Amino acid sequence: MARQPKPAITSSAVHDLIRHRWSPRAFAPTPVSASDLASVFEAARWAASSNNGQPWRFIVATSADTAAHDAAADCFNPRNQRWARPAPVLIFALTRKLADNGSANMHHWYDTGAAVAQLSLQAEALGLVVHQAAGIDRDRVRATYGVPDDVDVVIGFALGHPGDPEALPEELPGREKEPRGRKPLGDIVFAGKFGETAPFAK
Ligand SMILES: Cc1cc2nc3c(=O)[nH]c(=O)nc-3n(C[C@H](O)[C@H](O)[C@H](O)COP(=O)(O)O)c2cc1C
Repeated sequence: MARQPKPAITSSAVHDLIRHRWSPRAFAPTPVSASDLASVFEAARWAASSNNGQPWRFIVATSADTAAHDAAADCFNPRNQRWARPAPVLIFALTRKLADNGSANMHHWYDTGAAVAQLSLQAEALGLVVHQAAGIDRDRVRATYGVPDDVDVVIGFALGHPGDPEALPEELPGREKEPRGRKPLGDIVFAGKFGETAPFAK
């Protein structure tokens, strides 16, 4: 099924991958191929990171293994489970707090976010969709997968082919049609002093 288009209304031209990516909650049950799975993680793998530390780690559960998929879905908050459980692929992004030499890495969350962003754009390029959720039970993720203490649980996300929004429960079909929005460029890009809009962003 084709995904509902919700292109970003941009003030300047951006790449189509950026313009068209959004976070739907409707997923088709169609499995994601092994080659597409490998491709999205390859994109994450090549993200930039502080000192090339690559702190990101991922745990994946697919609907090919019902018990594993159920266990992953159980880690999402109940409201997020409404859309995450039907998705064929559920993923948790984790991040190592320490660099390989044992020193603290203050950039590890930043780096792992960048890796997930890169994964999301690769998914978009493959015609797949991603929906991230901070609304997960991190203690449950930790217990389910034996996550060590020096690793943080960052986020869960669903990956799959676009599905039918009308099949979603409760208010969710309507939310799929809500317009997307962002703060104006002038509110986020400064020059000279914090809060002073950069000339090109006016
Ligand atoms: C760190 C992070 C946490 C999020 N947590 C949730 C969540 O718990 N539940 C949810 O439905 N969406 C969640 N989202 C999705 C955002 O609501 C969504 O990305 C945002 O509204 C922008 O919409 P867009 O991705 O369609 O452009 C999260 C996204 C990010 C990046």
